Amino acid sequence: MQLELFHGVLKTYLDTPNLSNAALYEQLVDGGLLIRHELTERAPIGRSAQHHSPAKRRVRWIQQTLRSMGLLERMPEHRGVWKATTKAKTELTPAAPKVVMLGFSTEWGIGLWGNAEDVFARIDEPISLAISSPPYPLNQPRAYGGPTADQYSDWICKLLEPIVKNLVPGGVVALNVSNDIFVQGSPERSTYREEMVIALNKRLGLKLMDQIIWHNKNKPPGPVAWASKERMQLGVAWEPVYWFCNEPRLCIADNRRVLQPHTEAHKKLLARGGESRTASNADGAYRIKPGSYGKQTDGRILRNLIDVSHNCPSQRDLRKVTDELGLPRHGAVMPLKLAQMLVEFFCPPGGLIAIPCAGTFTLPLAAELSQRRWVGTDKHLEYVHVGSHRFPDRVMTA
Ligand SMILES: C[S@@+](CC[C@H](N)C(=O)[O-])C[C@H]1O[C@@H](n2cnc3c(N)ncnc32)[C@H](O)[C@@H]1O
Repeated sequence: MQLELFHGVLKTYLDTPNLSNAALYEQLVDGGLLIRHELTERAPIGRSAQHHSPAKRRVRWIQQTLRSMGLLERMPEHRGVWKATTKAKTELTPAAPKVVMLGFSTEWGIGLWGNAEDVFARIDEPISLAISSPPYPLNQPRAYGGPTADQYSDWICKLLEPIVKNLVPGGVVALNVSNDIFVQGSPERSTYREEMVIALNKRLGLKLMDQIIWHNKNKPPGPVAWASKERMQLGVAWEPVYWFCNEPRLCIADNRRVLQPHTEAHKKLLARGGESRTASNADGAYRIKPGSYGKQTDGRILRNLIDVSHNCPSQRDLRKVTDELGLPRHGAVMPLKLAQMLVEFFCPPGGLIAIPCAGTFTLPLAAELSQRRWVGTDKHLEYVHVGSHRFPDRVMTA
């Protein structure tokens, strides 16, 4: 496949700087992108019908194309030696419309390079969960870009439409978005989230189950203009995870999959056989009698306010790998612990998880560790490349 080879040539230069053509061919053979005997095969080419290697010509055509895109340059004074440019290392390479490439595969999933709309339009399998942290509609977007607050509802509906049509009855859609989007020049929060909830309901038939709060007490201070400078707003400390279901009565989420350890106080209460007093609040809505809360249970039900810091060992390791590869760091990553809780709560073992906008593949890694099948995609080649390094047993296919 020409595109796979294209991706492979760029990746090889990103992995190994200053590569001679001979070394490049070797690495492409090692990576399964060329077959060794193709390199020695000769065929008559062009009007002169001179004999050349068609495989080597394909690679050289890719080199020239990458050069014209400003991603590859020759090493002056070293014949046949090329290197990736600073642009290739620092700018992101978006997938062309309709082009989807297999980046890597693992025991439980596949990582793709492509726009989510294109990827999931081609997948016709029952999906249990669609989960994502899509780009937030920031006034100053991150390197990977994204829709504005005004465009958001339409953008997210189009992105999710091909997934939602394959959701199993009771299937879940979960979206981590930002609460901290402000109307330009004002301390007023955007209502894009409310508009998104209504659009997903009206256009895709998704019913709102909850807005789970991810409490991140290490969130960077903000909003700087309105909390730190003008002092009108409070400091931000949480992000919502919207949870939708197509058929709420059949919802496949199950809190028994994410039971938490009992608190020490509750363990003591259990050891005492529960409450010993009799009490009631003023209107009788809550009554305590001897033995209340004394029943042994397997754990505490997870509350819909999840306290997880964004300081994450897995993300720290990934930053190191990203720097070693000389690739751009991703600016918006989710802690693995949160990703795992969400994946396990929402999706039963054996379910298929669709992960559009995978970024550094945190949610796919959570699915892999939880032994759920997954399909993850990101539109930027560099993130798929970096993300693949989180799966030690991956098979590189492109
Ligand atoms: C907020 S980040 C996701 C971060 C991710 N949760 C993590 O832990 O790394 C959003 C990602 O969506 C990707 N993206 C934006 N539009 C996309 C699209 N249409 N299809 C696939 N990926 C897209 C961007 O490249 C970016 O990496």
